[in-house]
Amino acid sequence: MTQKIKKIGVLTSGGDSPGMNAAIRSVVRTCAYHNIECIGIYRGYQGMIEGDFEEMGPRSVNNIINKGGTILKSARSAEFRTPEGRKKAYDNLVKANIDALVVIGGDGTFTGGLLFNSEYNFPVMGIPGTIDNDIYGTSHTLGYDTALNTVVEVIDKIRDTASSHNRLFFVEVMGRDAGHIALNAGIGAGAEEILIPEADLGLDRLLDSLKKSKASGKSSSIVVIAEGDKIGKNVFELKDYVEANLPEYDVRVSVLGHMQRGGAPSCFDRVLASRLGVKAVESLLDGVSNFMVGLSNDKVNLTPLAQAIKGKSEIDKELLRVSDIITT
Ligand code: F6P
Repeated sequence: MTQKIKKIGVLTSGGDSPGMNAAIRSVVRTCAYHNIECIGIYRGYQGMIEGDFEEMGPRSVNNIINKGGTILKSARSAEFRTPEGRKKAYDNLVKANIDALVVIGGDGTFTGGLLFNSEYNFPVMGIPGTIDNDIYGTSHTLGYDTALNTVVEVIDKIRDTASSHNRLFFVEVMGRDAGHIALNAGIGAGAEEILIPEADLGLDRLLDSLKKSKASGKSSSIVVIAEGDKIGKNVFELKDYVEANLPEYDVRVSVLGHMQRGGAPSCFDRVLASRLGVKAVESLLDGVSNFMVGLSNDKVNLTPLAQAIKGKSEIDKELLRVSDIITT
C-alpha cells in the first residue's frame, strides 16, 4: 500500500442516517490501523469552512457503533456552494495538513465533494449515507435497512388499531424522490396499496383497488405512500378525495416523518458501515480518489462519484410485480 496520505478528514453531511456513527468509527479505526492520523470535521462542509476540526483516535469512537444520528453533526451548507466558501474550506484543510477526505452522505454531499476535488485536486472518497437508498452504484445506503425496520414496526402497530376500528390508514413514509422505503416496507408490513413516484398508480386505480379490498372482506387497509409520490395530491387531500368517493371508508392519516431517521442502526447497517469505512480509507491510501464505496451483490465496490450522482437507483421491477400479486 502506498502511504502518501498521512492525515484523513472525515465528515457527515446532509440528512443524517443510522449507521453514520458506525462508518465514522470504521474510518477512524482504519486510519489508526494504518498509522494515519484522522481528523473529525464537525457539521459537514460548514465545519470545514469554519475549521471546526478535532483529532480522532480509536478511543474517540468508543460505544458509537450502536448510536443513531452522527457524533460529527450534520448540516446543509449554503456557503460551500460558493467558490469563496470552498476556498476557505481548502485553506483550513491545508492549515491542518489534511491530505484527503471521506465524506459520508447523499448526492448533495457527493456533489460538493466532486466540485471541491475538481477545483483543488483534493482526494475525496464518498460513503453513501441516506435512508432514502436513492444513490446509484450501491444496493444499500447506510440507514436504509434501519429505516425499513422502523417503518415496518410502526405500521404493524398502526395495523392493530386499524383493524380494531375497520379503518383505512394512509401512512406517509420518507423518500424525497424515491419509493424504495415505501415499496419495501409496504411489502414487509402487508400494505394493501403502495404509492411510489416511480410507478403512477393513478387515482382511479386506487379507488378501484380499495373497493375490491372492502368487497373481499378485509377489515382494515393500509396504503403506504412515499412522500415524493406524484399521484397529484398530498396525503391529506388524498384522504378527503377517498372519503368523498368511498364514503364506506373511515380514513386516518399518519405521517411518520423524522422518526424514520433516528434510532439504533440495524446489524446490517453496522456491518455495512464497517465494511465501507475500511474500503474508503484503504482506497485513498491506494491512491484512488473521486469514488463512492458501495455494495453490489454483497461485495464492496467502487463507483465514480460523478456516476453515483448522475445515475438513478432504479426501483426493482420484480418487487413491484410481487407487490401487485400479494396485495390482492
Ligand atoms: O434524504 C433523506 C430525507 O430524510 C428525505 O427522505 C426527506 O425528504 C428529507 O431528508 C428531509 O430533510 P430535512 O430533515 O432537511 O427536512
